[in-house]
Amino acid sequence: MDILIETGATPAESKTAQLDATQYTRESILKYEKIFGKNFVSTGGAESTREIIAMLNLKPGMKVLDIGSGLGGSAFMMAQEYGAQVHGLDLSHNMLDIAQERLHELNLEKQVSFEYGDFLESQIDAQYDVVYSRDAFLHIHDKAKLFQVIFKTLKPNGLLFFTDYCWGEGEHSEEFLAYVAQRGYAMYTPKEYGEFIKAAGFKDVQALDKTKLFGDYLRLELEKLPKDNSIPEIRQSWNEKILRNQRGEQGWGWFMGKK
Ligand SMILES: C[S@@+](CC[C@H](N)C(=O)[O-])C[C@H]1O[C@@H](n2cnc3c(N)ncnc32)[C@H](O)[C@@H]1O
Repeated sequence: MDILIETGATPAESKTAQLDATQYTRESILKYEKIFGKNFVSTGGAESTREIIAMLNLKPGMKVLDIGSGLGGSAFMMAQEYGAQVHGLDLSHNMLDIAQERLHELNLEKQVSFEYGDFLESQIDAQYDVVYSRDAFLHIHDKAKLFQVIFKTLKPNGLLFFTDYCWGEGEHSEEFLAYVAQRGYAMYTPKEYGEFIKAAGFKDVQALDKTKLFGDYLRLELEKLPKDNSIPEIRQSWNEKILRNQRGEQGWGWFMGKK
């Protein structure tokens, strides 16, 4: 007989508890940083972020929302290099705790703020010039609602930009399907993602397949790992990702749309 334990937690709180206890424990976040670089837990770290942010046409004082802001690397760069005002929203307390420590160290409190929350539950109306996200939407299953809420959150003519892990066009191996299921990821091909964005009302939508660049970054990141093999699980996980990427199973995309 199944035994149901009533915790009284909301769905967002349950997701937080699960993320903080598994993929994003403080220890595992600090390990990820060793491969992605300080303040980043996403593909290409500071290097891809610098290239991407240069495309956003940010001006001093512009308001940016970073969904799934993690350790704050993107927010800090937008504030320091473009004078943007950035608000980061994240569902992991462990990520937010480290982000707050780094915010304090960098003395950027006047330009950057972080908040706990599930973006799907946010009630923000037409406040942001840019809604930005890096490799976080894979955690959000209801894509139709996700892009509807983003649309509401943006000012007229506001810009959406995000990157995310994607299904490649190739066959999916049992091993990859098991990995995606175990992590609870909700993934689509770049083309399918583009359709979700258009359906929410965005114009000038671009859905760029960056699968090859993803492979290049994975190989570069692997070279950055400490040579003493002190974190073998990360090395193994990157080697597996490289193989999936080479087989065309695991891709990456960059996405843009205007309100
Ligand atoms: C792979 S990390 C990327 C962090 C950061 N964007 C970066 O570039 O380093 C994904 C982040 O998305 C957050 N996240 C997942 N679901 C979320 C949701 N529904 N609302 C807000 N943040 C979410 C996770 O807690 C995690 O910090």
